[in-house]
Amino acid sequence: RSTSPAKYPRACTALGDHGEESALPTLWDSLPAIAVVGGQSSGKSSVLESIVGKDFLPRGSGIVTRRPLVLQLQKIDEGREYAEFLHLPRKRFTDFAAVRKEISDETDRETGRSKQISSVPIHLSIYSPNVVNLTLIDLPGLTKVAVEGQPDSIVQDIENMVRSYIEKPNCIILAISPANQDLATSDAIKISREVDPKGERTFGVLTKIDLMDKGTDAVDILEGKSYRLQFPWIGVVNRSQADINKSVDMIAARRREREYFASSPEYRHLAQRMGSEHLGKMLSKHLETVIKARIPGIQSLINKSIAELEAELSRLGKPIAADAGGKLYMIMEICRIFDQIYKEHLDGVRPGGDKV
Ligand code: GDP
Ligand code: NA
Ligand code: MG
Repeated sequence: RSTSPAKYPRACTALGDHGEESALPTLWDSLPAIAVVGGQSSGKSSVLESIVGKDFLPRGSGIVTRRPLVLQLQKIDEGREYAEFLHLPRKRFTDFAAVRKEISDETDRETGRSKQISSVPIHLSIYSPNVVNLTLIDLPGLTKVAVEGQPDSIVQDIENMVRSYIEKPNCIILAISPANQDLATSDAIKISREVDPKGERTFGVLTKIDLMDKGTDAVDILEGKSYRLQFPWIGVVNRSQADINKSVDMIAARRREREYFASSPEYRHLAQRMGSEHLGKMLSKHLETVIKARIPGIQSLINKSIAELEAELSRLGKPIAADAGGKLYMIMEICRIFDQIYKEHLDGVRPGGDKV
């Protein structure tokens, strides 16, 4: 059955679309999105890429991500993977290096080639048979001081922008902290604790474990002894700048990351729950739980009028059959679409396409 370039992720986009308002808050609006937050160059874009399992984001030192990127993964039944930008309708990208260049060019178009930021999001969709329908959000890094070419307000501007995304209750937060800096200075922990004090939707991710000073390790953090979070901490080793320059691919990077944890005496006992692959699995398990918990929401559909249901269906992009005016039919139809998404998650297909 075709999950036609589905309309329902548009509802997910509502998370990033501050302008788009719907008369009906729906199940679709409450489907989760995942956002990465943290200090500049903490490894946010790198983590997001490894969740998706594709190289397509600009990464590097300094302020590289200067506009929010709202990425919709959309499952298609078959065919070749491609990407599309909202600002370039009908242009299909099959070369993901070109996607990266377009993100970078489109950032510059809005902000100039300066170090300015803009809160206007870039919308990118990736259509693939190997993903689940999911929204991921890459955000500019939190900073402490304005650098040359930036207005003094930039520190607060970035913080406000980031907060506007992660304060939504359906936003799952990946709080990214680099292991080579003191956790007490982590911007990610600070802001995520503010919007999610109980840590019910925050995953702590520790990057750059390979860059820690000799003689130090992250065991206390990873075991939850330094700073406790509801979910266990996950350590990752992303590609270094040298790896990026040498175009080390994702598969090689993952293998090396696995070896890193499995072979270091400090981390060996934790190896099973470390790494990008494990992070992907944790997220997909968490999404499953969230979606299951939303099922009672279907109950509320039953109380809606036919006109409301019709509106809802058309919002989902499903044609309403001429003879299908019945309320039951429409509820069934909506449930069917919901069920389909739900099953895709249960199938264990996770973003990036690996079977769990
Ligand atoms: P962002 O600014 O938070 O989005 O960070 P990026 O993903 O752009 O990464 C910033 C820089 O840190 C890049 O040069 C990455 O190669 C590097 N980097 C990120 N994570 C790691 C890591 O786990 N280990 C190493 N060695 N380098 C990393
Ligand atoms: Na950076
Ligand atoms: Mg970035």
